[in-house]
Amino acid sequence: MIDYIAIENCVKKAGQMVLDANLESASVEKKTGDANFCTEYDVKVQNFLINELSKILPEASFFGEEDTSNNIKDLEKEYIFYIDPIDGTTNFMFGYNHSSISVGLAKKGEMVAGFVYNPYVDEMYKAFKNEGAFLNNKPLKMMDKAVSEGIIAFGCARYNENKIDVLFSTVKELFLKSLSIRSGGSAAIDLSRIAKGANVIYIELRLQPYDYAAASIILEEAGGIITRIGGGKISLVEPCSILAGTKKAHEEVMKIAKEKGYSSDF
Ligand code: IPD
Ligand code: CA
Ligand code: CA
Repeated sequence: MIDYIAIENCVKKAGQMVLDANLESASVEKKTGDANFCTEYDVKVQNFLINELSKILPEASFFGEEDTSNNIKDLEKEYIFYIDPIDGTTNFMFGYNHSSISVGLAKKGEMVAGFVYNPYVDEMYKAFKNEGAFLNNKPLKMMDKAVSEGIIAFGCARYNENKIDVLFSTVKELFLKSLSIRSGGSAAIDLSRIAKGANVIYIELRLQPYDYAAASIILEEAGGIITRIGGGKISLVEPCSILAGTKKAHEEVMKIAKEKGYSSDF
């Protein structure tokens, strides 16, 4: 039996590290591409998580955002933890108070558990394969709303500007069909929020497995759907586009995406 309570506690402790961070003195490094940052806390939190999770599940491998040199991409591995130590680093650096710790666990290439924790509001989204999704221990069950009945959310990063015009034109069309639009700056939170009915859609051109692995199981266990924008299966080894939502809204956006020329494997 995997000690999921210990994993959850460890994710919460990582959240406390984010809350306790001293941003004024934090060192910041620039990674490849425009506006792509890594603070000393991104590294500290990831090291803390890898250390603690290795004690809880010693046979597990890791796929994390910072120091990717040991990332495991072999889906035959018994267990892989997908870690985004701070999802929403730019929000974190600028004091937006809206970031999350994202930890997903896959067994032989299939997600079996996910935790997305927003420490600023103490919201813990979690899910376990075939056992449902929860927000602060309360079961989540989504209503199958259409685009016209909800808020749509999207993400984009300066370091992933390829095809930005087609994304923005899709987002504009969705905005005009929906109740409103948001871009929260933490994809893991925006995706998990679909599970509680706050967003009906999340769309982004390029995300990494550590951005969406944990949220993908939270969303699916709550009754939602997550695919690539063209409809293909999401990847657990390489970046891909993301279209997630209620089943109804997802189908609507897939139609729009087809008209915009997104190929089925995009
Ligand atoms: C980013 C956030 C953002 C999304 C970017 C991600 P990071 O992750 O999730 O919402 O739009 O594409 O890279 O860099 O803050 O961990
Ligand atoms: Ca991220
Ligand atoms: Ca991050």
